[in-house]
Amino acid sequence: MAENTTGAGTAEEMPKYPSPRAAECPFAPPPGLLALHDSGKSVRRVETWDGSTPWVATTHAAQRQLLADPRLSANIGAPGYPHTTEAMKEHAAEMQPSINNTDGTEHQRWRRMLTSSFTRHRMEKLRPEIQQITDDLIDRMLAGPNPTDLNEALSLPLPSLMICALLGVPYEDHDFFQEHAGVTNARFESAEKSAETTRVLREYIAGLIEAKMDHPGEDVLSDLAERVKAGDLAMSEAAPLGHILLVAGHDTSANMITLGTAVLLQNPDQLALLRENSDDPKFVANAVEELLRYLTIPHLLARRAVVDDIEIDGEIIRAGEGVIAALPAANWDPEAFPEPEKLDLTRKAGHHMSFSWGPHQCVGQQLARVELHVVFSTLFNRIPTLRMAADISELKFKEDSQAYGIYELPVAW
Ligand code: HEM
Repeated sequence: MAENTTGAGTAEEMPKYPSPRAAECPFAPPPGLLALHDSGKSVRRVETWDGSTPWVATTHAAQRQLLADPRLSANIGAPGYPHTTEAMKEHAAEMQPSINNTDGTEHQRWRRMLTSSFTRHRMEKLRPEIQQITDDLIDRMLAGPNPTDLNEALSLPLPSLMICALLGVPYEDHDFFQEHAGVTNARFESAEKSAETTRVLREYIAGLIEAKMDHPGEDVLSDLAERVKAGDLAMSEAAPLGHILLVAGHDTSANMITLGTAVLLQNPDQLALLRENSDDPKFVANAVEELLRYLTIPHLLARRAVVDDIEIDGEIIRAGEGVIAALPAANWDPEAFPEPEKLDLTRKAGHHMSFSWGPHQCVGQQLARVELHVVFSTLFNRIPTLRMAADISELKFKEDSQAYGIYELPVAW
């Protein structure tokens, strides 16, 4: 890779971002990204798909500093915002303001709508239901064809059923909800089909919110109904917010289950350790943090536009320029995690960046944690002979997708 010692050199000298993963180490971040640690700079310019040259922050310390800085904006329409894809760039101007793309007090207002819904206490109350869903899905998997694709059997249905529980979707609507949630997250659906599904789901969510105004339960849509009733939130804002929760919490969790399972099956010593300690909630919780660190599912996040000049590590990042906090690089920063390439379930990894940092850090992280604790303490005990039914070299990894993962994971037992 060409070396750019100034941090602001010409486009020809700049590393490309993102760079490819190494086929022999599909669980590791791209070698080109990790090599940026050796440049001695915590931020540097890179060239992206459209020829633009945003800054990439690679160290844990620089990312924490930048993501907490109010001079960075999550507004995808702001000048310099480093878009991930052409489609995202094209649609930036039409994007409705919501929790994921606003800043400052406007963003705080959106967060407030969800804080009481996502407390650790509320998430813990969902644990028995998540355990039941996981056990039922494993029962169904064991009764079905062997081998099978873990994505279809467990990783995809679990988050959508879990979000049903969180939002308060009635049990009789689960099939409808899961079918549409699947389309929302499918890679090969046309833009028209996705738009139609979004419309149908939002209409459905709006209907539920209306019903919950008169008959509230202890769920997120009931909380939103109360906000709408109190005049804090318009219905036109509430239904899309419910939809964002569905999208944000589906693919990330599903990929974490599949990729986490695959990496454990590839590391039998760590898997044995997890099995031995699966009754110890502290051990499992710690192991999940390490898996989150090691794998960094949101591998292409977190992106911002700079609205006022910032000086960091001797560089000036100007207003109108883009910043990408390359989360996998922070999670494999040897200053923050010694021997980062080692999967070590006993490592204290709670300061990882997989839920990002600053005002936009993941709203659903406590829920994701409960779900992952349940899955990783249950799956290998219920199916002690679980193994991969394909060679790792045959698996197709999601390099091009917002959430890193594996398209299909054939497993046998
Ligand atoms: C393993 C699972 C998950 C991972 C790795 C993950 C990761 C992330 C990351 C990295 C961000 C921040 C992006 C940025 O800084 O630009 C984020 C934001 C968000 N996540 Fe998650 N997430 C997960 C699960 C969930 C779940 C289960 C939900 C809800 C049901 C959820 C809801 C959200 C929402 C609403 C935001 C936007 C917050 C804001 O912009 O203020 N996530 N997530």
